[in-house]
Amino acid sequence: SLAAVGDKVPETNRVQDRRSEKPRAIHGAEYAGAPDTDPSLAANRAWAARLLRGAPDTSLGDAVLAASRIDDTGILDRVLDTVGRSAVGWAEQGGEERARVLERAAAALAALRADLLEIAAAETGKTLAEGDPEVSEAIDFARYYATLARGLDEIPGVTHTSARVTVVAPPWNFPISIAAGSVLAALASGSGVVFTPAPQARRTGAVLAEALWQAGIPRELLAFVDIDEDGLGRTLISHPLVDRVLLTGSWDTAALFRSWRHDLPLLAETSGKNAIIVTPSADLDLAVADVVRSAFGHAGQKCSAASLVILVGSVGRSKRFLDQLVDATASLRVGSALDPHTTMGPLIEPASGKLLSALTELEAGQHWLVEPRRLDAEGRLWTPGVRDRVAEGSEFHLTEYFGPVLGIMRAPSLERAIELQNAVPYGLTAGLHSLDPLEIADWLETVEAGNLYVNRGITGAIVRRHPFGGWKRSNVGGGAKAGGPNALLDLVDWHPLPLPP
Ligand code: ALA
Repeated sequence: SLAAVGDKVPETNRVQDRRSEKPRAIHGAEYAGAPDTDPSLAANRAWAARLLRGAPDTSLGDAVLAASRIDDTGILDRVLDTVGRSAVGWAEQGGEERARVLERAAAALAALRADLLEIAAAETGKTLAEGDPEVSEAIDFARYYATLARGLDEIPGVTHTSARVTVVAPPWNFPISIAAGSVLAALASGSGVVFTPAPQARRTGAVLAEALWQAGIPRELLAFVDIDEDGLGRTLISHPLVDRVLLTGSWDTAALFRSWRHDLPLLAETSGKNAIIVTPSADLDLAVADVVRSAFGHAGQKCSAASLVILVGSVGRSKRFLDQLVDATASLRVGSALDPHTTMGPLIEPASGKLLSALTELEAGQHWLVEPRRLDAEGRLWTPGVRDRVAEGSEFHLTEYFGPVLGIMRAPSLERAIELQNAVPYGLTAGLHSLDPLEIADWLETVEAGNLYVNRGITGAIVRRHPFGGWKRSNVGGGAKAGGPNALLDLVDWHPLPLPP
């Protein structure tokens, strides 16, 4: 496995390496995620002010949507047929030519940075500060997969894919980076793509498709198809012209797709229930910051988010740690994603079902260290919550909630903490805060998750540095990790090499 391992010492995110390419979010009103062409502070202020005035201009997305809304099976058949035919020539062009197109896609994504950010914030409630690195990640995917596409030409026995049509079904919570990463991986392998956005992020998807078309990827090769999951979704997924589906979503959605078509070639990244362990050797200040960021970034609506923190030994009795955790959680500023002051945006939809229970009800023996509060009538804006004394095997221990609520567990030893961390059905991300090399080595040996982070937050995998993918119920189909060196190898065809004489 290609587990991504942070350094023992606190890692500074590699974002700095990319600073020359893009403006970064800075704190407060002087948000600096403005268009790349003019990163001056004045332009940034003007841009932020424009956002604050109201809803962004969605005409770009709306125009694409109007043209791509499909509710007729006959049209869907024609789209799939067209994509399949275009893919023949695309695959034959070879990795080098495809790589050049992907590099143009990287430039086009950079050019549309502000539009992508703005529309994702307006549509999905992703804050500007969270959306900005997403655009960077999409650009990184384009460049990295270009490199991998070139490399395919060099690998004996590997050719482009024989899959003509890949359906890409990305999630609403990473509507830019995961959507772009999956679309570009399929294209890099030589496949045509039907990109069907998550219903909650259809405008963001439309702007992304527009960026890729502007880069010279033909519409016949990359179709943007906006359909209802309940309507034509099933027809699309089970369509005989579909050779492969790349899904990022819940375990339940993967199961639904499979129920629609049992022999579906499906590669899916699915759910997570992720924990960070903090041992007495840890830098506790750093641990608090990383736990809070991992738990409440994007209001906890990430498959990679920290839902549990497991405190080992004396950390569980450390008033300093717990007080800081409470203060840091309470300091988050909840509000509109379009407000540059906001550090935690709204939920994608009003809290209901198990998430509503997790925000409002305690299980036996638990208590709130920070009790969530609902701030709006609709039920989308909640202050983040921290519940203490989550028991082994309890519902909170084992359930994915996808919202801004963190549970604290305690363990007498690192070994027990790892047992608690591994007890969940999923295995996506996992964290350890420890400055003890032996503890780190033990943990790396025994933890069951695809992405392992030491002394770092557990969200925000970086392309190439942290290939992203899960174990257990976090993965369906066993595909290679996204953004890693093997990312295309499950997508292309392998031919047996002649045996030596
Ligand atoms: N790739 C996303 C992350 O690492 C899901 O947070």
